[in-house]
Amino acid sequence: MQTRRLSFLVAAGGILVLLVFSSSRLFQTNDILSSLTSPAKTSEETSTAVSLIRWDNYLDYTRKLDFENSTALFNSVRAALRQSSSDIHPVGVSYFPAVIPQGTLMYHAGSKVPTTFEWLAMDHEFSYSFGLRSPSYGRKSLQKRRGGPGRGPGGDKKPGGSNTSVNTPDKPSRGPGLTSSQKMLTYRATRDLNKFLYLDGASAAKTETGEMDTQELLSNVAEKKLNLSGDGENGGMQERIFAARICEWGKPFGLDGIIRVEVGFEVVLCNFSSSAVELVSALELVNPSEHLGLPPPSVISKENGWPLDDDGNLIEEDLTDEQKALLDKEDSWQQVLENFYGVKSFNWLRAGAVHDKGERRIQLDYRHLVTGINRTVINPDPNNRRLLNDGTSWENQLKIVEDLEQVLSIGFDASQSTDWQIVFDEVVDKFAPILRMLSGILQRDDSSSENIAINATAITLNFSLRFKAKDDVKNQYGNDREFAVYQYVRPLKDLRTNSDFLVWSASVNVVRKVVDAIYDVNELLLPIVRSHMGKESGASIEAAQAVTRAQQEIDDLIEDLGWIELHYRCEKVCKWDEICYTPSWGPSPMGMTVPGSPNAGTGTHYDADRQRLVIDSALRCLSLNELLGNRGHF
Ligand SMILES: *[C@@H]1O[C@H](CO)[C@@H](O)[C@H](O)[C@H]1NC(C)=O
Ligand SMILES: *[C@@H]1O[C@H](CO)[C@@H](O)[C@H](O)[C@H]1NC(C)=O
Ligand SMILES: *[C@@H]1O[C@H](CO)[C@@H](O)[C@H](O)[C@H]1NC(C)=O
Ligand SMILES: *[C@@H]1O[C@H](CO)[C@@H](O)[C@H](O)[C@H]1NC(C)=O
Ligand SMILES: *[C@@H]1O[C@H](CO)[C@@H](O)[C@H](O)[C@H]1NC(C)=O
Ligand SMILES: *[C@@H]1O[C@H](CO)[C@@H](O)[C@H](O)[C@H]1NC(C)=O
Ligand SMILES: *[C@@H]1O[C@H](CO)[C@@H](O)[C@H](O)[C@H]1NC(C)=O
Repeated sequence: MQTRRLSFLVAAGGILVLLVFSSSRLFQTNDILSSLTSPAKTSEETSTAVSLIRWDNYLDYTRKLDFENSTALFNSVRAALRQSSSDIHPVGVSYFPAVIPQGTLMYHAGSKVPTTFEWLAMDHEFSYSFGLRSPSYGRKSLQKRRGGPGRGPGGDKKPGGSNTSVNTPDKPSRGPGLTSSQKMLTYRATRDLNKFLYLDGASAAKTETGEMDTQELLSNVAEKKLNLSGDGENGGMQERIFAARICEWGKPFGLDGIIRVEVGFEVVLCNFSSSAVELVSALELVNPSEHLGLPPPSVISKENGWPLDDDGNLIEEDLTDEQKALLDKEDSWQQVLENFYGVKSFNWLRAGAVHDKGERRIQLDYRHLVTGINRTVINPDPNNRRLLNDGTSWENQLKIVEDLEQVLSIGFDASQSTDWQIVFDEVVDKFAPILRMLSGILQRDDSSSENIAINATAITLNFSLRFKAKDDVKNQYGNDREFAVYQYVRPLKDLRTNSDFLVWSASVNVVRKVVDAIYDVNELLLPIVRSHMGKESGASIEAAQAVTRAQQEIDDLIEDLGWIELHYRCEKVCKWDEICYTPSWGPSPMGMTVPGSPNAGTGTHYDADRQRLVIDSALRCLSLNELLGNRGHF
């Protein structure tokens, strides 16, 4: 057994070597070919086979893109379809072509089976939490009656809006005992739904700080193109109008809908009558009170003989003994039920947090990405930018929509695209620790410059020597730094479209900047180490100054890269009854946190420079217990 496996490995190794050999020969032939038919770098769309992109020519295939546009794009790609990242980097400026594969289940809770466009949640916890509308008992039922807006993904949307940071978002008031029947619907994709647009950032946040700009842009252009003005007048809420217009615009191109994030990912499906989805099940939701055999809650009103003041508050001292006993009993029921609702809400939060690592059921086809990046001025800071800014002219908006129409006509196939998130994750996972370690060493003020230099160069030398040719031999792999960059950013599939070149160019620029910084620190500090070892004659090195410069370069880079991993962390490993909580924008079991308001919700604070709420860099473990008890629940 052992030997057989070994000989198999040897054989496989042999094949591998053979393949490498023959394909490197192929490269050379291709090289000659490609130099003959050298792609004009200015041409719009030049398809480039991935095998042509090598360590010694890859820069020829990149296109002009400044560092700020590069990081904006790099970080957008990395945050795509990730819950936590989409809330930390809330303002997206891109339309990602998305595919929901055949067989995927999606959920909707509501009073009826939708016939027009409607919301579907990717997680049933999300729909369930929105859809289950339970009556409140006892004294609580009075507070509940002043309900807030009831709307939401995965459930029926109701007009209305909230502007303040409310920590107790309530269900719509129906009065106790009057909950109408709600259905929990499950849908299944009967084929690959390959014409979705995923809007990145916290795109379901219902805000006015830029998170909705991708929807607004499309909606505005659709309104003008299709002469839809007047459709918003029957009291529709903004995002419902957006959805209606976007679906209307998308009809001729077969648009399936849009995908957004709230707490969990949600889909606006444009056509529920289409055969692309089928209804799998429709269950009537069972209220826990009903299931436990409780009678409906008492209706506390003046007409029913309850002592209420003019504001509808209960006058406790005027209660009869009988009324008091009834209320006390109902209060105790309510308390038990609240635990159930707490768990229900916590499940929804967890369903969101589960996708911090990605909503991997949805696939992205980066080949057809349409983005505001490198079309207009886009602040690389995703907390402080707008797609609809002064630079985004109407012509610019029309062009974006035109490009969307073109890619939608083609349809998406993620299997044909490099999964750039895989490539970029690798970059961040490897470089973030190096940068943080270097920064930690360089800022030590309890140590001599020599010791700092020795420790820092241990890291930078480790990095750079791997790419170095022996002294006096010309490095056949070209410049060390460029060779290093190539190791990290090779595309996995052919580059076919302008978007391919855009993403690829962004990755080269970002990694180049990181590699440069590591080499710069190495070159700054190595003379100090040489001198320490007695190898540098007449060492007139300003060691302290070199350390300061190195520190500045690394710390600036950490700031400029804006990688979430460099700035945000969970405070600890969370327990089983906890989640690592990233606050979200828009409706949530934790309340509605509105970025433009000064009222910070749990885990957020006001940033005066950006004039909005942002997320604290220490992410907290949130426990189930914090959702139990007397707060209001969805
Ligand atoms: C929303 O809140 C802002 C700031 O708190 C306030 O200026 C504005 O008037 C509010 N808008 C509405 C519609 O209540
Ligand atoms: C746009 O729609 C309005 C109202 O439906 C109509 O009166 C107007 O003639 C239309 N304009 C065009 C250019 O179609
Ligand atoms: C929805 O799809 C059905 C079946 O393909 C089609 O007949 C109908 O016109 C579509 N409705 C809309 C609003 O696009
Ligand atoms: C990004 O690219 C656009 C278009 O080339 C340019 O106008 C802008 O200045 C660049 N930088 C930023 C930060 O947007
Ligand atoms: C350098 O590394 C040594 C060994 O790990 C450690 O004891 C020392 O504190 C470090 N000094 C600095 C400045 O990082
Ligand atoms: C050592 O260098 C290699 C690349 O040359 C890099 O992948 C690795 O992460 C480095 N290790 C440390 C601890 O910096
Ligand atoms: C960025 O925009 C500039 C100006 O329009 C263009 O020349 C360049 O090719 C674009 N870069 C990429 C990577 O698409």
